[in-house]
This record gives sequence, structure tokens and C-alpha cells, in this order.
Amino acid sequence: MPKKAIEWSKIGFGYMPTDYRYTRIWKDGKWGEGSLTDKAEVTISECAGVLQYAQTGFEGLKVYETKNGDIVAFRPDLNAERLQSTCRRLIMPEISTEDFLSALDELVKANLDWVPPFGSGATLYIRPFIYGCGPVIGVAPSPSYEFRMFCTPVGPYFKGGVRPIKIMLSDYDRAAPHGTGNIKAGLNYAMSLYPGEYAHKLGYSENMYLDAATRTYVEETGGANFIFVTKDGKRVVTPKSDSILPSITRRSLMVVAKDYLGLEVEERPVRFDEVSSFAEVGLCGTAAVISPVGLIHTPDGDISVPSGMDEMGPVLTKLRETITGIQMGQIEGPEGWVHKIC
Ligand code: PLP
Ligand code: COI
Repeated sequence: MPKKAIEWSKIGFGYMPTDYRYTRIWKDGKWGEGSLTDKAEVTISECAGVLQYAQTGFEGLKVYETKNGDIVAFRPDLNAERLQSTCRRLIMPEISTEDFLSALDELVKANLDWVPPFGSGATLYIRPFIYGCGPVIGVAPSPSYEFRMFCTPVGPYFKGGVRPIKIMLSDYDRAAPHGTGNIKAGLNYAMSLYPGEYAHKLGYSENMYLDAATRTYVEETGGANFIFVTKDGKRVVTPKSDSILPSITRRSLMVVAKDYLGLEVEERPVRFDEVSSFAEVGLCGTAAVISPVGLIHTPDGDISVPSGMDEMGPVLTKLRETITGIQMGQIEGPEGWVHKIC
């Protein structure tokens, strides 16, 4: 089937309803049969658990067309596992990894003409989520749930593609998506909207959050983890913390840095006061891929990252080229990283 008539290289990170989405309902203590639907809207009780008590969690992953025309997803089993941990934390029923992967395959095969072509710079973003759709008025778990998975073609998350961005140190550390407790899941983002909009109004793309208890250590940004490169260009450092999202991209980059690029890797607490000693700063995530940071605004003055505002630094560039090469089938990835859909 021909691809949709979209100017793939011009799209940003937005929502475009595609032809089909996958849906599966849990009620009376069990999951029903999943199926595809062409309806992009959902109808739920006004008293649904998601509306009253925000009982919902989401994932995000990408599907790519490779050079030889295969359609693949990058480590979707890890998204399934993380969604299961979200569900346990929010008392929602879990979807098995096997069911998650077959829903993904079914969804993508039904929307093949929406998969951006190889080399276009765009990808198909997949958004799986589970929410309480049944009525609940006392504070309690919902009696029923919908697992839904839709897809939408996307371009770069930050305007300007992979050009360095400016971020700001936030005062709202307790509003960070994952900084409000040891929650390893995709939730609580509404609390980050206020600081997010504030940063945008001042001209910054993201907030840098510190640990909420002591404001000493670097956590993450509103939508991505941090990676840092030391001045000798030999070491990649990433914050260790129980209150940030365990990024699949970050976990993968640490393997790429060590096994493909021969760099040293360190996952450890990173003090904010050592950030100015790094040569390169990057944001990593499914949406962000690796986005270079050129400047960090703080109340005590701006920190200019040595790699600058003109281009991505050399180590982050190599990391980005290698991970996207694996994702798009140009470089052989470690066993099990690339899930072939068709
Ligand atoms: N941190 C936050 C707050 C995020 O929203 C995301 C994106 O999902 C990440 C980190 C990166 O995680 P991943 O690499 O699994 O997409
Ligand atoms: C992702 O990278 O998939 C995310 O969930 C980030 C989100 C802020 C768009």
C-alpha cells in the first residue's frame, strides 16, 4: 500500500490520528479480547477512575522502517515490562509482554502506510496506555480498565531538530514527572505542565529538575533523562536515582557507549555543582533520542556547556549515530534489541 501523502521531513512531534488503534477492556476481573477500531474517540463514565483520581499510566516507543524495508520496533519488551510496573504501582491490571507485543504488531500492520519512510527523519510513535474507565466515587481502584495503543507519525521532539537547546534549572522539583516519589512509570506529568509552560515562556525548551529532598543532585528533565560526557571525552556519566524514569534509551546508550564506542560508563549520583565540569550534556529518551544541551539557565548565572550552541558535541554525535543506526537496521544491534514486525 502506498504511504500517506505527508511531507515526512517537515513534521514535528504532534498527534495525527491514523486509521486504526488497538483496544482491550478489563472487567469482571479479566481481560476481554483485544481488537482494532477506527474510532479515535473514547466514551467513558463521568465518574471514571481516570477522570476523578487520575488512575492511568502510559508508555512511549518508536517504530522504524529500515534500509531494507523491514518494519521494526526498538526494545518494546522493555516498554511492556515498565508498563507492568506502572500497573502494579497504580493497582491496574497488567498486560503480559506477549500480549503487549502482539497488540503492537497488529496495530502497526494495520497502519503500515503511516510508517514514515527510511531516511525521512520521521518515525512512527506508539503510545500504549491503561486507564480506569469504570465509575468510582470513593477513593479506590476503578472496577474496569481500557488498554489502548495508538500510533502517530512524529518528527523531532524539540523544535530545530538536533540543534543544541537551552534549558533552565527549575524551582519546582516536586513537580517533576517522576520526582514525587519512587514511581517508575509514565504518570504525574500534569504537575510538570506549570513549570514547563513557565520555562517555554522564558525561552527555554525544558526544565532541569534536582532531587526534591535536598536540591543537590541532578534528576532529569520533564521528558528525558540526562547523559554527560567528561572533558577527556572518554567517559559517559548518567545520574543514578530511584525517582527518575528508568529510560530505555539511556539504558541502551550505556551499552552502546561501552560495547560499541569503547567508552567508560558511570551511573552514579551527579551533583548539580559538577555539571559545569562536563564537556557535553545531552537529553535522552524515545522522543528526544539524544538532544544536545548548549546552555543551562540558573539563578546564579548561565552555565554554557563547552560543546556550545552551534552543534552537537563529538561524543554525543557518535552515540546518536550508533543508536539510530541500530534502530534503523544499518548497524547490527545486540541480540533481542530490534523487534521485527514485518
Ligand atoms: N524521563 C521522562 C520524564 C520521560 O518522559 C521519558 C520518555 O519517555 C524518558 C525519561 C525517557 O525514557 P525512554 O528512553 O524509555 O523513552
Ligand atoms: C517519550 O519519550 O516517549 C516520552 O514519553 C516523552 C514524552 C514527554 C513525550
